[in-house]
Amino acid sequence: MSSTLKDVTYNRSEAVHDTGWWRQAVVYQIYPRSFADSNGDGIGDLRGIISRIPYLAALGVDAIWLSPFYPSALADGGYDVDDYRDVDAKLGTLDDFDDMAAILHAHGIKLIVDIVPNHTSNRHVWFQEALAAPAGSPARERYIFRDGTGPDGAQPPSDWHSSFGGPAWTRVADGQWYLHLFAPEQPDLNWDNPEVRADFIKTIRFWADRGADGFRVDVAHGLAKDLREPLPAWRTLDEELLLRGAHPFTDRDEVHDIYAEWRRVFDEYDPPRSSVAEAWVHPSRRSRYASATSLGQVFNFDLVELTWNPVSYRRVIVDSLADAAAAGSSNTWVLSNHDVVRHASRYGLLSEAASHEGRVVSRQWVQSGGTTPAYDSELGLRRARAASLLMLALPGSAYLYQGEELGLPEVPNIPDEHRQDPTFFRNSGVDKGRDGCRVPIPWTGDGPSFGFGTGTAHLPQPEWFAAHSVQAQEADPESTLLLYRRGLRWRRRLQTTEELPWLDAGSPSVLHFARKGGWQCITNFGPEPVPLPAGTVMISSAPLVDGALPSDTTAWILATAERSADSMR
Ligand code: NOJ
Ligand code: CA
Repeated sequence: MSSTLKDVTYNRSEAVHDTGWWRQAVVYQIYPRSFADSNGDGIGDLRGIISRIPYLAALGVDAIWLSPFYPSALADGGYDVDDYRDVDAKLGTLDDFDDMAAILHAHGIKLIVDIVPNHTSNRHVWFQEALAAPAGSPARERYIFRDGTGPDGAQPPSDWHSSFGGPAWTRVADGQWYLHLFAPEQPDLNWDNPEVRADFIKTIRFWADRGADGFRVDVAHGLAKDLREPLPAWRTLDEELLLRGAHPFTDRDEVHDIYAEWRRVFDEYDPPRSSVAEAWVHPSRRSRYASATSLGQVFNFDLVELTWNPVSYRRVIVDSLADAAAAGSSNTWVLSNHDVVRHASRYGLLSEAASHEGRVVSRQWVQSGGTTPAYDSELGLRRARAASLLMLALPGSAYLYQGEELGLPEVPNIPDEHRQDPTFFRNSGVDKGRDGCRVPIPWTGDGPSFGFGTGTAHLPQPEWFAAHSVQAQEADPESTLLLYRRGLRWRRRLQTTEELPWLDAGSPSVLHFARKGGWQCITNFGPEPVPLPAGTVMISSAPLVDGALPSDTTAWILATAERSADSMR
């Protein structure tokens, strides 16, 4: 290793000492039912994940986050949990979980599990007890039951909508109604109830004791509620309430009292368990979840909203870093996850949409079955690769979604009879749902499910998945998979303090910034090639053209070293 490179080599014990491992971690999200199927029943499982740990280690991720693997009837892809302290029999056993945790740890990979505290499933023992018990009983007090309005209480207690469409209240046999901000199979818990609070502490300890290094907290903004009568009308639930923390069920200030209690539990462990909030809140209130006395880190989905636009990208980066720093946390970067259209497809949509409408347009495209707006898959992949390399150069942690390292596009035209997402069933004709990013991963170019398992996959995979398989990409030095592997190796080696000075790129279409130690990142969003700064090009998302950075391309430069990129391949 040359002395210059040594100067900038990331010193893990200094920059990411154990207690802060999450600050700049690369976290790979696994949607367990669609990752790898070990027994050919078409459903991904924990043994399947175990079989792919060498793949994750070779990719170079620091941690994995598992979407729910708990017993569930899958009314919402597993976010309807029957039992928080078990593994779904179709996915494996607690012993499999223990093996998985141990093998991940042996590979130096941390494990984040998903906690779903806003709602249980309707099959949870508590909800079954509540249904069997009378109005006003302690069993009903764990949830949010109310009498209806109108003659005979036949109207719901309020006119609120659920997030998946349809009313937020469902009536039970004795005439009472229960609240569900999501599907009817996901009754909301009552977080004023001490038993609910105590049970989640038990769940946190259960998984932390079994080796979970951190937690992703689902619907973190939803737990605290003010449901004093009269319940306000839906049309009055406006932004002004949100900004004041006075909305009846979203982002109330008291929610942080719950997390302060969790934090005390996380801090009993060595190293302390980390957590990241999934909080869909006004950007000005997001950092509350990232405070050291709350969950410590919060998802920032701003990049998911954007089209491929340098001005918006720069604004989001500047604002996000400032917000995270003000909270004493690091930012989280997300381009794809199990709820949004994959970014390789979002960036291929030929639309004139405003720069903040990237997510909205991509949903419309899925709704049209992938026909409108027009789609250029090559352009999408080219921009996705540039975006990923840009994201991976930013200070903070990067959350990758399974398959994005393959540049995998969305499947926009799943036949309706195969759809699983409640968004589709509850919004007929309006939203086709999120199944298109949850199609099982292609590992090989052939076989009944492209190497996902020995049977057919639980969601149909299109023929074109073959070309994106891990097997095909491992054989192609220019593949997206190898780009991610090289990028993550360089990132690990060059990782440094969390500052980001911007450099003058000479054009508003070019974003150019430095990281301490000579690492620079430059992205050309414009149509014409631009000259590169002095230094060695370590990696680029597309080949250079006569030594210049072409359109829709990102390159990382080592400004002080003379080392060639080849040595890292
Ligand atoms: C957020 C999860 O990411 C999503 O998949 C789920 O549908 C909702 N929370 C409800 O739990
Ligand atoms: Ca299976």
